[in-house]
Amino acid sequence: MTNPSLLILAGDGIGPEVMNEVKKIIGWYGAKRDLAFDVEEDLVGGAAYDAHGTPLTDATMERAQNADAVLLGAVGGPKYDTLDFSQKPERGLLRLRKEMDLYSNLRPAQCFDALADFSSLKRDVVAGLDIMIVRELTSGVYFGEPRGIHKEGNERVGVNTQRYTESEIARVARSAFELARRRGNKVCSMEKANVMESGVLWREVVTEIHATEYPDVELSHMYADAGAMQLCRWPKQFDVIVTDNLFGDLLSDAAAMLTGSLGMLPSASLGAPMANGRPKALYEPVHGSAPDIAGQGKANPIACILSFAMALRYSFDQGAEAERLEKAVEQVLADGLRTADLLGPEGGSPISTTEMGDAILAALDASL
Ligand code: IPM
Ligand code: MG
Repeated sequence: MTNPSLLILAGDGIGPEVMNEVKKIIGWYGAKRDLAFDVEEDLVGGAAYDAHGTPLTDATMERAQNADAVLLGAVGGPKYDTLDFSQKPERGLLRLRKEMDLYSNLRPAQCFDALADFSSLKRDVVAGLDIMIVRELTSGVYFGEPRGIHKEGNERVGVNTQRYTESEIARVARSAFELARRRGNKVCSMEKANVMESGVLWREVVTEIHATEYPDVELSHMYADAGAMQLCRWPKQFDVIVTDNLFGDLLSDAAAMLTGSLGMLPSASLGAPMANGRPKALYEPVHGSAPDIAGQGKANPIACILSFAMALRYSFDQGAEAERLEKAVEQVLADGLRTADLLGPEGGSPISTTEMGDAILAALDASL
């Protein structure tokens, strides 16, 4: 048996720093749990642009297609702001999502008890929160045609197209219903069926899939603006939220902040099963490249580490080991260890990125 393969694309900004801590965790699983991975590394985003003049080379794309799972750090930085749209670091990430056809983006928003006071909302509103946003990731207004900026008479017009096919809606709906069955068995679907035809179709297809394939799951519908309001009012009413690409982008940032720190949240982007039965998969933290603190050892590696926990669960069928890693993170937080982003108004002394990684490794050791 060969080891499963991981392609690491650390990317830009704090990406490489947080990914270094993940590499230590991967090594730990090989050494201590007999779960070794073959790890390869490559460039994405600004780092790839600097080396090759493109945010993702064809060769890297090919390696990503052939890996059992891709782990990505973060892309982007002010240095690349003036590049042409097609060369921007973000295009590397969007190309990976599109060409690997990673249509189902899982973004959990979980509130760690030790951090419940960090939320801008009251403790009782967020303590114990555990919801999952399933964002459609390969279609909608992000990719719809026509798009562009053109001239009409003497003024410019910017155009993007929101477009969804039935099958695109159906497959992400199925992924949300499947997930709900393994959690609280509730799905809330969000769109703007009151103003958008794509939202009308979205609601119809989700309703059909529910009736024919998942009648045992509780389904509700909400307009996405009302959903945003309800997320801030009483987020614990939700279990799984399924929504389109753009609404999912917005709602998942809002949900992330409910938990107090963007530095804590992982994500999984999943596609269809490959020949070996594993889904095409890319795992990345929800946070960005944070160029303002890059290279200073201040970044919180937890979101990236928890993204590897999601890889253990969704790509490698190692749910118990994923839980071990999540528990280790919880332990370290309960022990009061904090990177700078996790220090409240009362202050305290932060630990570094590396120290956080080491503390999680120690908690993993203690779990044996
Ligand atoms: C995200 C990000 C990306 C998106 C950017 C970096 C292209 O905001 O993953 O949420 O808009 O999808
Ligand atoms: Mg976003």
